[in-house]
Amino acid sequence: MATIRPSRGAEHTAILGVGAYRPSRVVPNAELVEAIESSDEWIQQRSGIKTRRWATPDETVQSMAVAASRDALAKAGVDAPQIDCVIVATVSHMLQTPAVATLIAHELGTDQAAAFDVSAACAGFCHAVGMASDMVRAGSAGHVLVIGVERLSDLTDVGDRGTAFIFADGAGAAVVGPSETPGIGPLVWGSDGEQYDLIRQREDWREVIASESPRMPHLVMQGNPVFRWASFAMAKVGRQALDRAGITAEELDCFVPHQANMRIIDALARSMKLPDTVRIARDVADMGNTSAASVPLALERMIREGDARPGDTALLIAFGAGLAYAAQVVTVP
Ligand code: COA
Repeated sequence: MATIRPSRGAEHTAILGVGAYRPSRVVPNAELVEAIESSDEWIQQRSGIKTRRWATPDETVQSMAVAASRDALAKAGVDAPQIDCVIVATVSHMLQTPAVATLIAHELGTDQAAAFDVSAACAGFCHAVGMASDMVRAGSAGHVLVIGVERLSDLTDVGDRGTAFIFADGAGAAVVGPSETPGIGPLVWGSDGEQYDLIRQREDWREVIASESPRMPHLVMQGNPVFRWASFAMAKVGRQALDRAGITAEELDCFVPHQANMRIIDALARSMKLPDTVRIARDVADMGNTSAASVPLALERMIREGDARPGDTALLIAFGAGLAYAAQVVTVP
């Protein structure tokens, strides 16, 4: 039997740079409350959200992803042709096929990098960072560009009390590449399909077409069970990611959870017994829940504002529709 040569890559990997694109239009709670018979006070108290960004017509999934990617590449000091693979985590690219990743790779000038989309909802970015790290260590790619991008305003029913004030738009990106020391810890990930219906697109495309008055199949969510699952089950996942990386809560500098809701962020930090010294991302107050974009957007902001410094140890955790989740410890670039 012939022997197939195994593929080997870098011994260690790290996030080399993080970039962001925040859409220009700021939408305050005041703009939404009338349609859902709510109030700025109620929304802030239940979710911690004060404003969010909704993309203008020319701020597309592709254009926002390209802008965030250029920022990440510049910060990493990596040129587009060095990228061997582009992974885009998104649920709001409006074509079932092909993936938006190939268009983004082409616009960036990556020299025909492999490119594909990942559908893991709000957990997609952490899934993609884990895959990118494994690819670089296995030798399938030298550098991987990971993007989380959403235009959830297209999928949001502005008359739905349970979601209208939550979902928002934006893009974040990270370059994953080789490193002298371990910069991306073991991936802890999983799913719970028994709870498939808790957050979902209301109808599938065939049901939309068959209906008498076809309309966009908006996202719907059972807020209460999602809140309980995220606040408790995800604390266990966060602790597993720390354990598998051999990091104690005391050694952690930053906590960058999916920006779903401020109360979930606080509950997670409490259940994980994170010490007060850990700096916590709270981007949700100004950005709402941007699903796959939320973790890279929040991390980029912490770095830009000096709350996450190069060499710091950060726990990333993301969770959402599926239900799907993923977490890992990383070194801040
Ligand atoms: N504005 C004002 N009142 C509202 C409202 C709104 N937008 N939505 C619901 N209410 C009212 C309800 O009518 C109910 O009133 P009642 O007590 O008189 O019957 C009350 O608020 C409580 O409703 P409930 O649906 O139990 O709200 P809640 O406390 O669960 O809060 C969420 C709703 C959506 C804020 C909360 O469930 C949540 O944060 N869930 C997680 C959402 C999330 O982060 N998802 C993303 C995960 S990826």
